[in-house]
Amino acid sequence: MSSNYFSPLREMEKFPLDKFPNKDYTVLLPPDEIPTYWYNIQADLPEPMPPWLHPATLKPIPPQALEAIWTKEAVRHEFSKERWIKIPDPVLELYRQLPRPTPLKRCRRLEQFLNTPAQIYQKCEYVNPFGSHKTNGTAPEAYYAWAEGYKGITTEAGAAQWSSTFAYHCKYFNLRLMVFFARVSYDKKAGRRIIMELEGAEVYPSPSDRTEFGRKILKEYPEHPGSLGIAVAECLEVVLKEPDYWRYSLGSVANHILMYQTVVGLEAKKQLEMIDVYPDYVVGCIGGGSNYFGCMAPFMTDKLRGAKPETEFHAVEGYAVPHTTKGRYTYDFGDTAKTTPLLPMLTIGCEYVPPPDHAGGLRYHGMAPLISYLIVKGYMKAFAYRQTEVFKAAQIVAQTEGMITAPETAHAWKHAIELALECKRKGEKKVILVNNCGHGLLDLAGYEEFLKGTLPDPEPTAIKYPQYVTEDPFAIREKYKEITA
Ligand SMILES: Cc1ncc(COP(=O)(O)O)c(C=O)c1O
Repeated sequence: MSSNYFSPLREMEKFPLDKFPNKDYTVLLPPDEIPTYWYNIQADLPEPMPPWLHPATLKPIPPQALEAIWTKEAVRHEFSKERWIKIPDPVLELYRQLPRPTPLKRCRRLEQFLNTPAQIYQKCEYVNPFGSHKTNGTAPEAYYAWAEGYKGITTEAGAAQWSSTFAYHCKYFNLRLMVFFARVSYDKKAGRRIIMELEGAEVYPSPSDRTEFGRKILKEYPEHPGSLGIAVAECLEVVLKEPDYWRYSLGSVANHILMYQTVVGLEAKKQLEMIDVYPDYVVGCIGGGSNYFGCMAPFMTDKLRGAKPETEFHAVEGYAVPHTTKGRYTYDFGDTAKTTPLLPMLTIGCEYVPPPDHAGGLRYHGMAPLISYLIVKGYMKAFAYRQTEVFKAAQIVAQTEGMITAPETAHAWKHAIELALECKRKGEKKVILVNNCGHGLLDLAGYEEFLKGTLPDPEPTAIKYPQYVTEDPFAIREKYKEITA
């Protein structure tokens, strides 16, 4: 392997700074233009989503059953068909503190480097001090748990962007936070653990000896690298043992968590309108689907209505965890211990063991039911890239745009660069919107491996597709139409 210390800086030297005007970089929204409602796409889907199933009866699970683990408000939002849901004032206050609205920036230097006629815009969710979009979901989750009288929250961590900002929001509402942090990331991301502990959270490497499920796995496989599916199972075990004290909060995947992220796309849409631009491509990385959903949903609604049929929606994942590009649309558990209801999703199986890589937040076996639905129905396309090509793209972004992107987000950048190069080949002036959902300032170990040329390109491990339900999710929906209507 050769090192990556010098490229692509040398290439940049070919482009003098005065060649392009340095204006119109950033579109800012005034603070009072912050969205005050979340957008619920379920109101605008052409058909209802297939139901969640109870794993024992294989029949639709009543929403109330989820109140054993989630707050009442989360459950209400999960199944709501209301188009607009009001953001409570304390949550808006926390959004403003982020600060929101976040900037939208034109990536002129990147365009210049790629020598492309395409326009590339980034929505800057990385400006959050904790590093990512995740704060848009942790603020309401902590608020609702506090408002409903719970004392603590359990959550899983992969990249630990979600749990870091959650630690702060739990402290804000005087709640305990217990984090199960996938072991490989726990070992590689000591900085994240320190942040969470500094904010007062309790952090366990997962699989852990804190739960029966964790102990069982450690006994069979002491060096298990962990996965989000195992961490979720550990969280659920804690909550189900003491449900009056704890609530469980899932960092992505669920409809309500995706909906809380729509402030991102609502702002981006307004910001683009201010400069009279509409994207041809909306690009984002997908772990469980929340950042990308939040950015794209307010644009997707135009496609669903037929107002903007040409817009393309591109979701990008890691080659090592190909949950959508190789996933099968079927019912699967959200966790490895098979505790959750069965969800209709694209999945590579809840027993999938992701190989160790640096994109901890993309190492999940399934995809949000809403994103899965949009892919299966052809409204959205999925792409996968290998770790080294993704880090190479991140290096280009670092050297052109001056920001160190999170390894997860770098997947979106890699794809945006590919699209911009395609525009160059075809001479097309397309507009590409990228959700720059996180910074990578705590992921420097991965970057160092990349620079030294020692970053591996792990292959996916064995995929065992789930077979809990033989019928297609749409057939199940038809079968239970009367119950779920
Ligand atoms: C920066 C960043 N981007 C993306 C993701 C993937 O999650 P999601 O698809 O829910 O946005 C994570 C998850 O931890 C993350 O930290």
